[in-house]
Order: sequence, then structure tokens, then C-alpha cells
Amino acid sequence: MSISKRISFRRILSGAAIVLACAGLSFAAQGKKVATVSIAPTPEQYAVQPQPLSAGQCAQCHTGPFQGLKDSGGRHQFACQSCHTVIHAYSPRKGNYDAIMPKCVSCHEAPHGAKITDCATCHSNPHTPKKIAVTAQITNFCYDCHGAVRKQLDTLPSKHTKVACTTCHTSHGFKPSCFTCHKPHAEGQTVPLCLQCHPVHQPRNIVFATNTPSNTCSTCHSAIVTKLSKGTSKHAALTCVTCHKGKHRFIPPCTDCHGKPHNTSFHEKYPRCLSCHIDVHDLPVMKPQAK
Ligand code: HEC
Ligand code: HEC
Ligand code: HEC
Ligand code: HEC
Ligand code: HEC
Ligand code: HEC
Ligand code: HEC
Ligand code: HEC
Ligand code: HEC
Ligand code: HEC
Ligand code: HEC
Ligand code: HEC
Repeated sequence: MSISKRISFRRILSGAAIVLACAGLSFAAQGKKVATVSIAPTPEQYAVQPQPLSAGQCAQCHTGPFQGLKDSGGRHQFACQSCHTVIHAYSPRKGNYDAIMPKCVSCHEAPHGAKITDCATCHSNPHTPKKIAVTAQITNFCYDCHGAVRKQLDTLPSKHTKVACTTCHTSHGFKPSCFTCHKPHAEGQTVPLCLQCHPVHQPRNIVFATNTPSNTCSTCHSAIVTKLSKGTSKHAALTCVTCHKGKHRFIPPCTDCHGKPHNTSFHEKYPRCLSCHIDVHDLPVMKPQAK
């Protein structure tokens, strides 16, 4: 049997099926195009579950908010929709802009106390929450949040007490270098060194670190520095702050280190050590004499 004969034999056997198939074919053949164009269907595009847009996808249209969050979002770097639960619902007719925008208080409960409420006056952009311009509003509130600093400035008044916070802190959190306004006492001094002696909000409360080298004193007390270093006594080996420890201008009694080395009657007769030892910075060194 030839192949064609076999096919026709089958057609005869399954007549009903063939009729149906032919009907289908003829319907397609007879049907007109319902569109003026031909576009092949691509149902595979619909075999997915839609996913929420990622921040990067929102950014395809909203570059500004995305860039803000990317550069300075800090702890706000999470999905846009965590805040924007409603989007693309603004209607000028409804005037609902404010209503659909996220509210700080939905996630933050009075972080600065009950007095400070209008978040946007300082946090002007929620996408850069820590970028806070130094405006009149924030200036009025420096003390509410930094009462301790105010107290420091007031309890030991100095010329810095009369300088406005914002003259130094030109943006919030910015810490100026001393050299913006001052020259160092000596070449090579660094800001951390300045701060060792001058707490910035109490610059006259000068406290020496125990390791302060004597050359830091030489800008103002050069004669003594020279005298001490050239001396021949054992004091020459000491740094200035070994004796003048702690606060600037502190003068130690000799007895702090030496007690009363001579016999009691002797000390009663000559209460001032320097009436014999003459100059603490350049002790005359001599042979022992009768005590
Ligand atoms: C921490 C919450 C928060 C996150 C996260 C956040 N937004 Fe916003 N967004 C806000 C608030 C609050 C406003 C309303 C600001 C106003 O009233 O001026 C706003 C306003 C907007 C606006 C309208 C005003 C404008 O700046 O154009 C757009 C658009 C916007 N956000 C897009 C985004 C996109 C995109 C993301 C993610 C990449 C995002 N936001 C993430 C809180 C957020
Ligand atoms: C294909 C572009 C496109 C994408 C993607 C897009 N938006 Fe928008 N969005 C717009 C347009 C256009 C407006 C209306 C004009 C305007 O306010 O900038 C708008 C307005 C907004 C607004 C303010 C007004 C309103 O009705 O809400 C917010 C907030 C916003 N979009 C957030 C988002 C967030 C969040 C995403 C990601 C989940 C996103 N958009 C994705 C185009 C887009
Ligand atoms: C959907 C909740 C949500 C909304 C709305 C929201 N925040 Fe936040 N915000 C957070 C979370 C979460 C953190 C991180 C908290 C943490 O780590 O303890 C945060 C942190 C912050 C921080 C500290 C940022 C940092 O990097 O340290 C500031 C400032 C802030 N938010 C201000 C605001 C302001 C102002 C608004 C209103 C414009 C606002 N937030 C709206 C959830 C939100
Ligand atoms: C007067 C200005 C001002 C106002 C008004 C204000 N903030 Fe702040 N906020 C600040 C400053 C300044 C910081 C410190 C930023 C920094 O760490 O550099 C801050 C920090 C924060 C932080 C982070 C706190 C932390 O411990 O890290 C959150 C959260 C915050 N603000 C939320 C809010 C919310 C919510 C409101 C409204 C109820 C608000 N702020 C109103 C100035 C303000
Ligand atoms: C709403 C409260 C608030 C206000 C108002 C505020 N600050 Fe702050 N400030 C903070 C918080 C919170 C921090 C970060 C936490 C910290 O280090 O104490 C901070 C940090 C700082 C820092 C950096 C601290 C550091 O150790 O790095 C300086 C400087 C500063 N503020 C100065 C100011 C000045 C000046 C003003 C007024 C113009 C001001 N602040 C107003 C809350 C505030
Ligand atoms: C003469 C300049 C100057 C003035 C005026 C000044 N500051 Fe400062 N402040 C500084 C410098 C510099 C630092 C950094 C000190 C450091 O690193 O130890 C600082 C540090 C700070 C800090 C963080 C460290 C701390 O001590 O808590 C805060 C907060 C602060 N200043 C707030 C204020 C406030 C509020 C005022 C006004 C009442 C003010 N400052 C006035 C220069 C100044
Ligand atoms: C924005 C400018 C500015 C900055 C920054 C600044 N100061 Fe001053 N400081 C002043 C002014 C103004 C005076 C008063 C000067 C005068 O009247 O001769 C002063 C005075 C002083 C005095 C003398 C105080 C007194 O009452 O006699 C000391 C000490 C001092 N500053 C140390 C520092 C140190 C240390 C730093 C850095 C941590 C610093 N200052 C940062 C402006 C500044
Ligand atoms: C070893 C401690 C020490 C260091 C470090 C130090 N100072 Fe001083 N500073 C002093 C003493 C002490 C005075 C004098 C105070 C007095 O007159 O009672 C003084 C005075 C000042 C004065 C007041 C004006 C003047 O010249 O008499 C300024 C301004 C000053 N220092 C700025 C600075 C700066 C800026 C630095 C960092 C480069 C710095 N100091 C480092 C101890 C120090
Ligand atoms: C910026 C200048 C400056 C620096 C730096 C400086 N002093 Fe002075 N010091 C002074 C001034 C000004 C006086 C007061 C002088 C007067 O009253 O005749 C003084 C006085 C003193 C006095 C005497 C107090 C009294 O009652 O007579 C001692 C002690 C002293 N300083 C120690 C030191 C030591 C130690 C250092 C270094 C660690 C130092 N000083 C650094 C400026 C400075
Ligand atoms: C901070 C401690 C301290 C103070 C204060 C002090 N001295 Fe000394 N002094 C020493 C030390 C350390 C030596 C060396 C001791 C050694 O090596 O045996 C010394 C040595 C001496 C010597 C022996 C000198 C030599 O070269 O043999 C005399 C004398 C002396 N001191 C007198 C005084 C007098 C007087 C005063 C007060 C005006 C004084 N000292 C204050 C620590 C101090
Ligand atoms: C051994 C301890 C000691 C050392 C080291 C020392 N001093 Fe003194 N200094 C004293 C004593 C004690 C006095 C008080 C003397 C008096 O009563 O006449 C004094 C007085 C002073 C005075 C005020 C009186 C004057 O002579 O002008 C200054 C300033 C001074 N010292 C600076 C310094 C400097 C700077 C150094 C470092 C180069 C230094 N001292 C090292 C113990 C010391
Ligand atoms: C009447 C003079 C006189 C008086 C006052 C005096 N000394 Fe002396 N001191 C001497 C003589 C002299 C020596 C021995 C010379 C030497 O060793 O260089 C001496 C030695 C010392 C020595 C060195 C001791 C040793 O073993 O090397 C010290 C330390 C000392 N005196 C501390 C003091 C102190 C502290 C006072 C005050 C409480 C004081 N002196 C008061 C005259 C005096």
C-alpha cells in the first residue's frame, strides 16, 4: 500500500474527526482579520506574577528622590513603598497631595520631645533625612537639644561664649578647625593638640595632659624653658607639666614631691624653701653643708 493510500484509508476510518477538523480549518480560512495590523500574541509575557517595583525601578522616573536616598538616605534606605503606601493617586481636583504623602509620625514618636513637632522645617527632604540646613528654626532650638553645651559655655565664660553657635557650626554637625579663626602658638601644632589644652566650649579651662611636651610652653614662657633646659640640677630633666600639672597657672608646693627633707627646727626657722634654693627652674647645685 502506498503512503497516500494509507492516509486516505485513515481519513475514511475516522470520518467524524476529519469533518470536525475540516470545519475548524474552513472557519479560519473564511474568518476576516479583526485588527488592521498583525501582532503575534506572546502569552509567555503573562505567565508571571507582577512584583512590586524596586527602588531602582521607581528611579527610572523619579531620579531625584532616588539619588537623595542613594547619597544621603542613611537609615531611610529601604523600599520606597514602606513609606509611600499610596502612590500615583494625586488628583488636583481632589487636592489630596498632603493626604497621600507619608507622615513622619506614623513611624516616629516625638523623637525630640513634645515641643518640637514641625518635622519638615528642619528635615526639609525626607529622602535625605540627616541633611539639615542651619536655618532660623534650628538655631532657635540648639539649646533644647544641646543644653549641656550651653551650660559649658555659661559656667566658665570665655570669649567663645559671645560667639554664636552658628558662626562656628555653619552647617548642622559640622565641626570647624581652630585655624579658621586662630593661628597656632607654634608651628606644627594640630587641632587635636589645641583641644588637649582648650576644651572648645570652655577654652580658658586649660588643663594640661600629663605628656605635654615643654616646647608647647615655650611660645609664651621661652625664657623659663631655656633656663630650665640649660640648668645643671636634677630639675632640668623634668618637663614643665611634671610640676605644673593639671590646670594652667598651677604652682606646686615643693613639699608635694620632697616632703620636709631637712630637720623640723630648720624648716620652722626658714619656711620658704627658695630663700636658700633660690630658683626652682635653675637650682644652684652645691656641695652638702651642715644641716
Ligand atoms: C522615609 C519615608 C520615605 C521613603 C523611604 C521615600 N519617600 Fe518619597 N516622600 C516621603 C515624604 C514624607 C514625601 C512628602 C514630601 C513633601 O511633602 O514635600 C515624599 C515625597 C515624594 C515624592 C513627591 C515629591 C518629590 O520629591 O518629587 C516623590 C516623587 C517620591 N517621594 C518618590 C520616592 C521614591 C521614588 C522613593 C524611593 C526611591 C521614595 N520616595 C522613598 C517619604 C519617603
Ligand atoms: C514610569 C514612570 C514612573 C514610575 C516607574 C514611577 N512613577 Fe511615580 N510618578 C510618575 C509620574 C509621571 C508622576 C506624576 C508627576 C510627578 O509628580 O512627578 C508620579 C508621581 C509620583 C508621586 C507623587 C504624586 C502621587 O500621585 O503619588 C509619588 C509619591 C510617586 N510617584 C512615587 C513613586 C514610587 C514610590 C514609585 C515606585 C514604586 C514610582 N513612583 C514609580 C511616574 C512614575
Ligand atoms: C515607614 C516608616 C518611616 C517614615 C514614614 C519615616 N521614617 Fe524616619 N526612619 C524610619 C526608620 C525605620 C528609621 C531607622 C530607625 C533605626 O534604625 O532605629 C528612620 C530614621 C530616621 C532618621 C535618622 C536617619 C539616620 O540615617 O540616622 C531621621 C532623621 C528620620 N528618620 C526622620 C524622618 C522624618 C523627618 C520623617 C518624615 C518626613 C520620617 N523619618 C518618616 C522609618 C520611617
Ligand atoms: C529644630 C529642628 C528639628 C525639627 C523641627 C525636627 N528635627 Fe529631627 N533632628 C534634628 C537634628 C538637628 C537631628 C540630628 C541630626 C544628626 O544626627 O546629624 C535630628 C535627628 C532626628 C532623628 C534621628 C535621631 C537619632 O537619634 O539618630 C529622627 C528620627 C528625627 N530627627 C525625626 C524627627 C521627627 C519625626 C520630627 C518631627 C516630629 C523632627 N525630627 C523634627 C532637627 C530637627
Ligand atoms: C532637634 C534636636 C537638635 C537641634 C535643634 C540641634 N541639634 Fe545638633 N545634634 C542633634 C543630634 C541628635 C545629634 C547627633 C547625636 C549626637 O552626636 O549628639 C547632633 C549633633 C550635632 C553636632 C555633632 C556632634 C558630634 O559629636 O559629631 C554638632 C556640632 C551639633 N549637633 C551642633 C548643633 C548646633 C550648632 C545647633 C543649632 C544651630 C544644633 N546642633 C541643633 C540634635 C539637635
Ligand atoms: C568658637 C567656635 C564654637 C562655638 C561658638 C560653638 N562651638 Fe560647638 N564645637 C566647636 C568645635 C571646634 C567642636 C569640635 C570639638 C571636638 O572635636 O572636641 C564643637 C563641638 C560641638 C558639639 C559636639 C561635641 C560636644 O561637646 O557635645 C556640639 C553638640 C556642639 N559643638 C554644639 C554647639 C552649640 C549648641 C553651640 C552654641 C551654644 C556651640 N557648639 C558653640 C566649635 C564651636
Ligand atoms: C569661627 C571662629 C572661631 C573658631 C573656629 C574658633 N575660635 Fe577661638 N575665638 C574666636 C573669637 C572671635 C575669639 C575672641 C577673640 C578676641 O576677642 O580676641 C576667640 C577666643 C579664643 C580663646 C581665648 C578665650 C578667652 O576668653 O580669652 C581661645 C583660648 C580660643 N579662642 C581657642 C580656640 C580653639 C582651641 C579653637 C578650636 C578648637 C577655636 N578657638 C576655634 C573665634 C573662633
Ligand atoms: C599646652 C597647652 C596649649 C596648647 C596645646 C594650645 N594652647 Fe592656646 N593657650 C594656652 C595657654 C596656657 C594660653 C594662655 C591663657 C591665659 O592667658 O591664661 C593660651 C591662649 C590661647 C589663645 C588666646 C589668645 C592668646 O594667644 O593668648 C588662643 C586663641 C589659643 N590659645 C589658641 C590655641 C590654638 C588654636 C591651639 C592649637 C594650635 C592652641 N591654642 C594650643 C595653652 C595651649
Ligand atoms: C599662649 C601663651 C601661653 C602658653 C602656651 C602657656 N602659658 Fe603659662 N601663662 C601665660 C600667661 C599670659 C600667664 C600670666 C602671666 C602673668 O600673669 O604675668 C601665664 C602664667 C603661667 C604661670 C604662673 C602663674 C602665676 O600664678 O604666676 C605658670 C606656672 C604657667 N603659666 C605655666 C605654664 C606651663 C607649664 C605651660 C605649658 C604647659 C604654659 N604656661 C603655657 C601664657 C601662656
Ligand atoms: C613634681 C615634683 C617636684 C616638685 C614640685 C619639686 N621638685 Fe625638686 N626634685 C624633684 C625631682 C624628681 C628631683 C630629682 C630627684 C633625684 O633624682 O633624686 C628633684 C631634685 C631637687 C633637688 C636636688 C637637685 C640636684 O640636682 O641634686 C633640690 C634641691 C630640689 N629638688 C628642690 C626643690 C624645691 C626647693 C622645690 C620647690 C621650689 C622643688 N624641688 C619642687 C621633683 C620635684
Ligand atoms: C620642679 C618643678 C618645676 C618645674 C619642672 C617647672 N616649674 Fe615652673 N615653677 C615651679 C614652682 C615651684 C614655681 C613657683 C616659684 C616661686 O614661688 O617663685 C614655678 C613658677 C613658674 C612660673 C611663674 C613665675 C615665673 O618665674 O615667671 C612660670 C611662668 C613657670 N613656673 C613656668 C614653667 C615652665 C614653662 C616650665 C618648663 C620649662 C616650668 N615652669 C618647670 C616649679 C617648676
Ligand atoms: C636655709 C637654707 C635651706 C632651706 C630653707 C631649705 N633647704 Fe633644702 N637644702 C639646703 C642645702 C644647703 C642643701 C644641700 C645642698 C645640696 O644638696 O645641693 C639642701 C638640699 C636639699 C635637697 C637635696 C637633698 C639630697 O639628698 O640631695 C632637697 C630635695 C631640698 N633641699 C629640698 C628642700 C625643700 C623642699 C625645702 C623647703 C621645704 C628646703 N629644701 C629648704 C638648704 C636649704
